[in-house]
Amino acid sequence: MKVILLGAGKLGKQLYKSFVNNQTIDLIQWYNRSETNLISPEGIALTNSLDAIEKADLYILAVSDDVISSISKKLPTDVLLIHTAGSVSIDVIKSHKRRGVWYPIQSFNDQQEIDFSEVTFGIETNKLSDKQLIYDLTKSIEAKPIDINSEQREKLHLAAVIVNNFINHLFTQASLFCEDNELSFDLLRPLIRETFNKIDKISPEEAQSGPAIRNDKNTLKRHLELIKNPVLKKVYTTLTTSIQKLLT
Ligand SMILES: NC(=O)c1ccc[n+]([C@@H]2O[C@H](COP(=O)([O-])OP(=O)(O)OC[C@H]3O[C@@H](n4cnc5c(N)ncnc54)[C@H](OP(=O)(O)O)[C@@H]3O)[C@@H](O)[C@H]2O)c1
Repeated sequence: MKVILLGAGKLGKQLYKSFVNNQTIDLIQWYNRSETNLISPEGIALTNSLDAIEKADLYILAVSDDVISSISKKLPTDVLLIHTAGSVSIDVIKSHKRRGVWYPIQSFNDQQEIDFSEVTFGIETNKLSDKQLIYDLTKSIEAKPIDINSEQREKLHLAAVIVNNFINHLFTQASLFCEDNELSFDLLRPLIRETFNKIDKISPEEAQSGPAIRNDKNTLKRHLELIKNPVLKKVYTTLTTSIQKLLT
């Protein structure tokens, strides 16, 4: 299958790496607005011009959510076009009769290479006949495909934001708190690892421990006294209330 990848951000770069030496996927071109982000020692044609986009079987948009629609309108319309966003409806690219979504339920960054065999892709196509092609694409990078429509995908993306972005933000807040109090964040790493290991074995509700669920009032009061940052104080209070509400 002849494929053109558009986007060289966090997701685009990782897709590029998994496509480039793939036996099934014939990556014929890689587009990105800024040419400097396109690194191609493998001899794939590169372009930063949408006018220079070639003919292919499949076009994959791995660009910022807000530009999916505008970029789609500059591409040939008689081709299969898919985007990769969790919260963007399939109909945002409705200028394309053959359209789809290929949403990886994973977080990508430039520092760590993702093992796609651990990634599930939520798939939606408006034509049944195109679904198999996207399933084949998914399997060719050893990832897992599942069917999910735009409505459910949007909700899944919201849950993904909570488990990934919010938890990561809590790590950041804890790290800043440690720094302010001359403590090493490294002391918490085994606890963080154990927190994630547990989630593979038991439900999140069963894994919960700590002063909020025990309703240790003195400890909760003392913690709030120790927090100087008003935003963190609010986060602490909101999460404590949320944990305790599940008990009632
Ligand atoms: N990262 C993740 O963890 C993740 C997970 C699942 C799904 N996704 C989806 O994957 C897509 C890409 O996300 P990302 O995290 O890779 O984003 P990113 O790292 O912020 O990269 C954004 C990409 O969009 C391009 N872009 C932005 N504005 C543009 C414009 N006006 N014209 C042309 N190109 C433009 C950027 O080009 P320049 O390099 O020129 O700025 C870059 O290639 C999004 O739809 C996102 O929802 C991401």
